[in-house]
Order: sequence, then structure tokens, then C-alpha cells
Amino acid sequence: MKRIGIIGVGEIGRAIVMGLCDGDGTSLEVFLSPRGARTAAELSERYKGVKVCADNQEVVDRSELVIIAVRRQDRHEALTGLRVGSDKIVVNVMAGVSNDALRHTLATGAPLVRAIPLAERQQRTHPRYLVRPGQLRSLGEGPRRPPRRLAIAQRESSPRRRPVS
Ligand SMILES: NC(=O)c1ccc[n+]([C@@H]2O[C@H](COP(=O)([O-])OP(=O)(O)OC[C@H]3O[C@@H](n4cnc5c(N)ncnc54)[C@H](OP(=O)(O)O)[C@@H]3O)[C@@H](O)[C@H]2O)c1
Repeated sequence: MKRIGIIGVGEIGRAIVMGLCDGDGTSLEVFLSPRGARTAAELSERYKGVKVCADNQEVVDRSELVIIAVRRQDRHEALTGLRVGSDKIVVNVMAGVSNDALRHTLATGAPLVRAIPLAERQQRTHPRYLVRPGQLRSLGEGPRRPPRRLAIAQRESSPRRRPVS
């Protein structure tokens, strides 16, 4: 996965970008939404592969995987009307917004994946929490399998543990 978009560049968006870009200097390209302008500008100055887009649609268009990191109350303004092709993977990190609700807002057939990143992501420490399937359902998610490409990426990044996302 080489082109990653982030819609919502606040606290968790910044931590994700820093976690992705610090360290081994992989040739990632990261596309940021323009809101949270100060943080987005700072990150694009700091990292060569990070660019600030003109709007949220450009973030989607330029990315293979799009992370949705706005506050839940901002999701309609940020996402309604975006065109998200089914060739994209969408990662939902919004607390309290189920993938079904997000799919309704985005009106897309793209695979949606749930993740709960923590600020430690910035330190590349990959904290993971294991929960039972019933607990996932109580968070608003069924036991859906992740898309194949993501499952492979998860296996590669964590050979000994199976993450729940
Ligand atoms: N912080 C955490 O540790 C954490 C952990 C897991 C999950 N989350 C989830 O991540 C999401 C973001 O949390 P956060 O703590 O990072 O919040 P935050 O610091 O308030 O960041 C949210 C960002 O979204 C931007 N935004 C608002 N409307 C937008 C729009 N229409 N288009 C694009 N961007 C827009 C805001 O820009 P402006 O500043 O210009 O308004 C702000 O930069 C939440 O849904 C939260 O539940 C957070």
C-alpha cells in the first residue's frame, strides 16, 4: 500500500502520519485533507512524501487507502457527496460510528475496515487489543472478514498475533 489518504488531520491523524513516515523512510505517499490546516502544513513540511490536498475528494482520488479521522459530528460535512470507488479501501477510525453508518454516508461499495488506533501509533509500537466477536458486535460491527489485501498486510506486520479490526 503506497498511497494513503487521511481525511481529518487532528490529533489522531497527526499520530498516524508520524507513525507512517518516521523511521525507515519507506516510499509512502500520504495525502492530507486541508482542514486542520496548521497541522497539515506542518506535516507536509516535515515529510517529503506528505502533501496537502485542495479538498477531501482529491484525498480520495489520489489514495489507495483512505483513513477517515474526523470527529463523528463532522462526518456528514466531511464525507457526504464524496465519490469513493470500490477499488479503494476505507479505514474508519471514528469512535461510535459503525461501518454500516459510514457506508450509508459514503454510499460506496468499497471495503470498509474498522480500526481503533491510539496515539502510540506515532511511536510505531502497534498496541493491539484482543476482543471476542460478541464484543465487536456490541461496538456496532459484525464479524466481517477484512479485505484480502489488508488481511495479508496484517499477517505480515504481526506474525504471532491476529489483530482484530
Ligand atoms: N485522539 C485519539 O486518541 C483517537 C483515538 C482513536 C480514534 N479517534 C477518533 O479519531 C477521530 C478524530 O479524533 P481526534 O482526536 O484526532 O480529533 P481532532 O483532533 O479534533 O481532529 C479532527 C480533525 O478533523 C478535521 N475536520 C473537521 N471537519 C472536517 C472536514 N469537513 N473535512 C476534513 N477535516 C475536517 C478538524 O479540522 P479543524 O481543526 O479545521 O476543525 C480536525 O483537524 C474521532 O472520530 C475519534 O473518535 C481518536
